[in-house]
Amino acid sequence: MYKIKKAEKLTGPNYLMVVEAPRIAKHCLPGQFIIAKEDEKGERIPLTICDYDREEGTITIVFQPIGASTEKFTRLKAGDSFRDFVGPLGKPSELCTDDLEEVKKKKILFVAGGVGAAPVYPQVKWLHEHGIEADVIIGGRTKELILLEDEMKAVAGNVYITTDDGSYGRTGVVTKVIEDLVQNEGKSYDLCVAIGPMIMMKFTCMTTKKLNIPTVVSMNPIMVDGTGMCGACRLTVGDEVKFACVDGPEFDGHLIDFDAAMKRQMMYKTEEGRALLKVREGDTHHGGCGNCGGDE
Ligand SMILES: Cc1cc2nc3c(=O)[nH]c(=O)nc-3n(C[C@H](O)[C@H](O)[C@H](O)COP(=O)(O)OP(=O)(O)OC[C@H]3O[C@@H](n4cnc5c(N)ncnc54)[C@H](O)[C@@H]3O)c2cc1C
Ligand code: FES
Repeated sequence: MYKIKKAEKLTGPNYLMVVEAPRIAKHCLPGQFIIAKEDEKGERIPLTICDYDREEGTITIVFQPIGASTEKFTRLKAGDSFRDFVGPLGKPSELCTDDLEEVKKKKILFVAGGVGAAPVYPQVKWLHEHGIEADVIIGGRTKELILLEDEMKAVAGNVYITTDDGSYGRTGVVTKVIEDLVQNEGKSYDLCVAIGPMIMMKFTCMTTKKLNIPTVVSMNPIMVDGTGMCGACRLTVGDEVKFACVDGPEFDGHLIDFDAAMKRQMMYKTEEGRALLKVREGDTHHGGCGNCGGDE
């Protein structure tokens, strides 16, 4: 059992939890995720590691309830426990594993959409701890959906806030801010890291391609095991099929087939879509559809 040390409601629909998981806290790096399961009957829910404290042996997660399982998580209080809390999963961000001197030469822009601020934060913090001040754009539909502003300001170079409805910070979507910074405000970047809803990552990649900025995205497809055994999380990256849970979740955003990834996510919404996935993927489909037993 993995004890919840802190359970807090953030602004908007978002929740933060600090969970006792010493082994994960000892080994994880920014970019990796965990899979949490509430009880014996619970679903396996992938959530990015938002922060970790190696000495305290804790992991912080930030999540937005969007369906049954994440909704149930919101009822958990400090003192309750997760039955399973597996990780660290996925590959760490290359920024934390590449040669530090090479990373230091880069001007890096992070783009966080909505709850995407949670996975962006540990990367910006890690860079700060290693003497690199990255710029960050945090975007949300409206003011209450802007997350981790103060925390981000404490570890970033410049933080630019934008809301679609103009209720806070600049007005407009994150891609407008990227264009403004580069085309009107004299900024230049060697790398962009975009994390948020797939649609936001898709449009960010279209913008950065135009501006010639290499871009990394963190993909969040449906996952089941999270250890490379089922392919529910498959994505098309360039000409190749990749499993986000073991090959990612970070990929070259300019190579991702976002339309296919979003269509696949939609298919999981209906029984018909899931059945279609099973037919299309034949013997290579081992999980997630709810019909083949791979998700049990
Ligand atoms: C590697 C990874 C890291 C993630 N990190 C975070 C995080 O830090 N914070 C956070 O809030 N969420 C994160 N997510 C998304 C989170 O896992 C989903 O929100 C959760 O699995 C939904 O489960 P549910 O049972 O509550 O909803 P469901 O009932 O399964 O789904 C409700 C609706 O959301 C859609 N949906 C389901 N899963 C996803 C998904 N993975 N992405 C987008 N839409 C989905 C479904 O199609 C459905 O319409 C991450 C996902 C991945 C793969
Ligand atoms: S969730 Fe990635 S292979 Fe099963």
